[in-house]
Amino acid sequence: MYVCVCQAVTDRQIREAAEGGARTLKDLRRDLGVTSECGRCATCAHECLKEVHGTPRKPAKLIRMAA
Ligand code: FES
Repeated sequence: MYVCVCQAVTDRQIREAAEGGARTLKDLRRDLGVTSECGRCATCAHECLKEVHGTPRKPAKLIRMAA
């Protein structure tokens, strides 16, 4: 499906770019032109990136042991 209508970029193209090393929206803008015009594709493009790279893990909480 088209994610970025302005630049005619599909979810498949975004996933391929992510698999090729794109990690941020800035990378996608540079490589494919995503978000370079109206910007309405940003959320969906970001979701595609997360599908490929996963969501960053939250740092583990430290548990203090009673002495
Ligand atoms: S839909 Fe991507 S810049 Fe407009």
